Amino acid sequence: MGLVVVVLSLIIAGGGWAWGAPQDGLLNPKLRKPPKSEPPGAAVNDPVSKDALKQIALGRQTFRFRTFGDEAFWGGALRLHEAIAGEANGGVGAGVSPADALDLGLKVDVDALPARLRQQLRREEVNLNDPATTIALLQLNAVVGVKGFFTNGTLRAVGITCALCHSTVNNSFAPGIGDRLDGWANRDLNVGAIVAAAPNVQPIAELLGTDQATVRQVLLSWGPGKFDAELLLDGKAFQPDGRSAATLLPPAFGLAGVNLHTWTGWGSVTHWNAFVANIEMNGKGIFYDPRLNNAAQFPIAARAGFGNIRNQPDLVTPHLAALHVYQLALRAPKPPADSFNAAAAARGETLFNGSARCATCHVPPIFTEPGWNLHLPSEIGIDSFQADRSPDRRYRTSPLKGLWTHQKGGFYHDGRFATLLDVINHYNLFFGLGLTDAQKSDLAEYLKSL
Ligand code: HEC
Ligand code: HEC
Repeated sequence: MGLVVVVLSLIIAGGGWAWGAPQDGLLNPKLRKPPKSEPPGAAVNDPVSKDALKQIALGRQTFRFRTFGDEAFWGGALRLHEAIAGEANGGVGAGVSPADALDLGLKVDVDALPARLRQQLRREEVNLNDPATTIALLQLNAVVGVKGFFTNGTLRAVGITCALCHSTVNNSFAPGIGDRLDGWANRDLNVGAIVAAAPNVQPIAELLGTDQATVRQVLLSWGPGKFDAELLLDGKAFQPDGRSAATLLPPAFGLAGVNLHTWTGWGSVTHWNAFVANIEMNGKGIFYDPRLNNAAQFPIAARAGFGNIRNQPDLVTPHLAALHVYQLALRAPKPPADSFNAAAAARGETLFNGSARCATCHVPPIFTEPGWNLHLPSEIGIDSFQADRSPDRRYRTSPLKGLWTHQKGGFYHDGRFATLLDVINHYNLFFGLGLTDAQKSDLAEYLKSL
């Protein structure tokens, strides 16, 4: 019935659609007129907009809270929840207090805290050095990206969600405690130290063909803001010069219109979502990518059969569509007006689009190439180590919108350039741009304004 009404109103609005002769219809100048702008409020009644809003809401839930069954790995196998609880609460060791958790870069969602608890926190009546408080926060679903599973009030497992690495908070309540900022890279988060705290890392050691001590050593070499998504594929933990092989956590916003994703362009957003949910988070779903059967490039993945994962029931695939829509709906946040010099940024923009040639690759307004946005390492003047750990052996042109939110940890995939000026100096030298110091500084201000 609803559909009939929509079709009828389309016919009326179109002033008589030429059924059966759409070509004629297109030639009819009346039908080529741009559509009239919709009256206020009309969009929410339009079925496409209505469905998009529903997908966004579902995708947000998945991004924040869905573990895809990965608690069987983080809880069941690695027993991470026991390290969080500590001996006093039925686990092992000292436990992880809220103070420890904040030190590890974990964030607390203030909106999940009841008003009374917020008041007690303000009055410093809450013991932030007691792991029991962490358990209470998990019970409130307040630890961003970590989900506790409880039986009769006892923590029996934890799982992780996308928000762990790709969300932070705005610190509105206290450092590390605030409103969620989905899509922001959590550059404070020490993923390696968190995983290394698990009592049992034998499943990872077995996969990599090594021992638990080596696994812990590798995990602790990552440091804050980093993770190595390729370790479980090729077993390479260190770059040839001895530096960690881990890469920076990228933001998951500002990705609409961008073709290939990850630092090395593995695939689309949804390819990578399925990859991460199954292989990195250890959720239980279906994943297919026969490029991982290349045993020379991905010995661990090929041996483990990561190129063709089939779990029944499939806890991942039904959630991919909404998760995809949600991420594409996350726009890069605008920088605060006082965080850059506007006049310098305007001069920097002219350079970026002109003599500095940045815009040949970082094409505004998506700031990556429309099309196949990958480059050989030699085209940007860096080594091929990380590129060689991906199917196309290239680096993806980073979309630069919202760059101001992830300056911590440095720039380029492994944070090799500590500051924007270092990045610009690299291009200046490599492309022989001959930029003056003033021009370099203008370019940096422009980058901060994106
Ligand atoms: C343990 C931390 C971690 C978790 C959990 C995680 N990611 Fe990521 N994500 C990363 C890292 C690191 C990369 C970069 C990987 C690379 O380039 O090799 C990445 C890359 C991405 C990208 C590509 C961004 C770009 O610039 O193209 C997207 C999109 C993404 N993740 C979404 C997700 C979603 C959705 C989930 C949940 C299903 C998720 N991630 C879970 C760490 C994580
Ligand atoms: C030949 C294409 C190309 C040109 C020209 C180019 N870039 Fe890039 N840019 C890339 C690629 C590819 C990366 C990703 C490198 C990596 O991941 O290690 C990148 C990364 C960056 C980053 C780091 C982003 C991050 O998230 O860490 C910045 C900043 C940047 N470019 C700015 C510039 C500026 C400024 C110019 C002009 C002076 C420029 N680029 C010219 C391809 C290019």
